[in-house]
Amino acid sequence: MKTIVMNGMGGREMLDYVERPDPVAGPGQALVEIAFAGVNFMDIGVRQGTVWNEMPNPKILGVEGVGRVVADSDGVEGLARGQRVAWVYAPGSYAERIAIPATSLVPVPDAIDDRTAASVMMQGLTASHFATDFYPVQPGEFAFVHAAAGGLGLLLTQIIKLRGGHVIGRVSSDEKVFIAEEVGADHVVVDTEGRFAEQVLRLTGGEGVHVVYDGSGPKTFQSSLDVLRRSGVFCWYGPVLGGPGPLDIMSLPKSIKIGYATFRDHIHTPDLLRARTAQLFDWIADGRLRIRIGGEYPLADAAKAHADMESRRTTGKLLLVP
Ligand SMILES: NC(=O)c1ccc[n+]([C@@H]2O[C@H](COP(=O)([O-])OP(=O)(O)OC[C@H]3O[C@@H](n4cnc5c(N)ncnc54)[C@H](OP(=O)(O)O)[C@@H]3O)[C@@H](O)[C@H]2O)c1
Repeated sequence: MKTIVMNGMGGREMLDYVERPDPVAGPGQALVEIAFAGVNFMDIGVRQGTVWNEMPNPKILGVEGVGRVVADSDGVEGLARGQRVAWVYAPGSYAERIAIPATSLVPVPDAIDDRTAASVMMQGLTASHFATDFYPVQPGEFAFVHAAAGGLGLLLTQIIKLRGGHVIGRVSSDEKVFIAEEVGADHVVVDTEGRFAEQVLRLTGGEGVHVVYDGSGPKTFQSSLDVLRRSGVFCWYGPVLGGPGPLDIMSLPKSIKIGYATFRDHIHTPDLLRARTAQLFDWIADGRLRIRIGGEYPLADAAKAHADMESRRTTGKLLLVP
């Protein structure tokens, strides 16, 4: 089968489009023919060696996708041959086929097409975790969402709006403002240098926001602290774009609470995975959650997808087509 293999940690030159033997499903695993693989910023972090660097190279990149079960497997119940399934956190997804533990697979309902299912696993589950578990946004509250036109930001904005919150988004260019507004952001500020605090405070009558969702790297960190109101919550999620460095706890203002959120801490069992995915699929089927596909690339062009994401030009979800 064709795959994208990463030969070592570093730049996009580490990615090779190569032939590899088909995977063989072991006990409890299903063999799946991949229809779309999701591109995530996390994949760039894996490539650069920032996250998931414990798996030796060379290895097949990618952790997310959708496809069809192609063979019956030992010890796998409830998954028929031909069944459409989606997954996240399954290493080896930039490929034509993958062997995955059946417990990591989510059946995809007929109402949800392949592209949509592949687009919602990582970013949808993350957005849902951020706005409902890490900080359950309440009606009328203000949330500040970084990278609001990105794959995660667009879904997070919509889930906060579904919960009755107000969203102030931050994007890096004027072209992205309309895209964030289109899904419901109430205000959008344009900034790349961390100089948004004054504007956000003005938009909240000087009080600041109840919650900040920031995974945008060291440049935004201090201003994100500055826009929190008393007892506000800082949801930090950006290991790939870098952290603020060591923090002096006594420098944290206004009794704020701060934490590093990852959805796997809360959505950590197969039942939870299926329940939370089913909720996302319901919202999509009802028209309450809209998916924006920002780009589709042949599997062979995975390095170009990475380049586009790293250039900050992309919006919404990027997909690879094996
Ligand atoms: N903790 C978790 O569980 C979890 C799960 C999923 C994703 N994440 C993190 O969430 C972030 C977004 O991931 P994603 O896969 O959903 O991608 P994404 O939001 O579709 O795209 C990345 C966004 O990040 C911004 N960006 C790109 N390059 C940047 C740079 N050099 N410096 C600052 N901002 C930059 C861009 O927004 P602007 O240009 O508008 O700023 C872009 O829209 C990543 O940091 C990822 O690691 C965390």
